[in-house]
Amino acid sequence: MNISNIHFPDKPLFLAPMEDVTDPAFRLLCKRFGADMVYTEFISADALIRNVKRTEQKLTIYDAERPVAIQLYGREADAMVEAAKIAEEAGPEIIDLNFGCPVKKVAGKGAGAGLLRDIPKMLQITSEVVKAVKLPVTVKTRLGWDDDNRVIVELAEQLQDCGIAALAIHGRTRAQMYRGDADWSLIGEVKNNQRMHIPIIGNGDVTTPEGAAECFDRYGVDAIMIGRASIGRPWIFAEMKHYLTYGEWMKPLLFEEQKAIIKQQVLDSVNWLDERRGIIHTRRHLASTPVFKGIPNFKETRIAMLRAETLEELFKILDSVLEQEVLL
Ligand SMILES: Cc1cc2nc3c(=O)[nH]c(=O)nc-3n(C[C@H](O)[C@H](O)[C@H](O)COP(=O)(O)O)c2cc1C
Repeated sequence: MNISNIHFPDKPLFLAPMEDVTDPAFRLLCKRFGADMVYTEFISADALIRNVKRTEQKLTIYDAERPVAIQLYGREADAMVEAAKIAEEAGPEIIDLNFGCPVKKVAGKGAGAGLLRDIPKMLQITSEVVKAVKLPVTVKTRLGWDDDNRVIVELAEQLQDCGIAALAIHGRTRAQMYRGDADWSLIGEVKNNQRMHIPIIGNGDVTTPEGAAECFDRYGVDAIMIGRASIGRPWIFAEMKHYLTYGEWMKPLLFEEQKAIIKQQVLDSVNWLDERRGIIHTRRHLASTPVFKGIPNFKETRIAMLRAETLEELFKILDSVLEQEVLL
């Protein structure tokens, strides 16, 4: 499968863009476990063109994580074009446009999924960005604004006509936010539309190797994007890759191996930010990780783990959790 001239192996798995989650440290980790492409978190076009330092930092890319897509959001074509040119300078393989973010502070202001209510503007932004940069431009969006406006089949054709190189579809409407189940049937319809020739990336609720295999087989998508299931479990890419290749689960990682990965992630984040911010930043991963599932009376330890403020404190807690306890 190719997106423009970027080649991917069969049945590729992408790490979904996630605000405050897909920083360089986490992207590198997912890459190490087999993610075929990673995305930055969404980056505000307005903040980028105003040279906001914290926003500019989000453009940092490491060679080891390539291919990488920088994702932008905004509601005006001028700002998106300018931001795309700045993002292009950072040297990603792809510029991705976010037309799917449902949160009020974004969609309510007409950016992200808000553009599903103004398709002409979405298409204008897309065409102008495609023309303005040399890199391939891709789009990530949802099925439509709400159940009465599930426009994705027609919209996909229109976006393709704007010159995008691939389309990622999260199988929910904006109105659904993250509720209900992702509906892959419309993603499959887009993929099976004879008029579509760009790669279609399916997204939403793929959490197991079996689930990934089913989405490839049933809906024929060119790639699958994994979001929440990777939080606290970046090795999910290895588990899925193994299953997609051999049709069976790989040998599970040992408890100590999983713990070492989580600890490494904390260290990477601390190096990337600083001790306090790095720890706070990784709390979401610590809270979601399945590593400590099944440990009896873990509640107290969990609370302490999520409250720890220094590396020493946090690692002491992590080191105190032993495998025997899980097996009990
Ligand atoms: C914490 C979090 C942050 C997210 N941030 C972004 C984002 O910056 N850009 C984007 O396109 N989607 C974002 N998403 C949506 C995901 O990319 C993905 O579409 C969604 O979670 C569904 O996939 P999943 O079921 O595999 O998680 C975010 C999701 C979560 C949970």
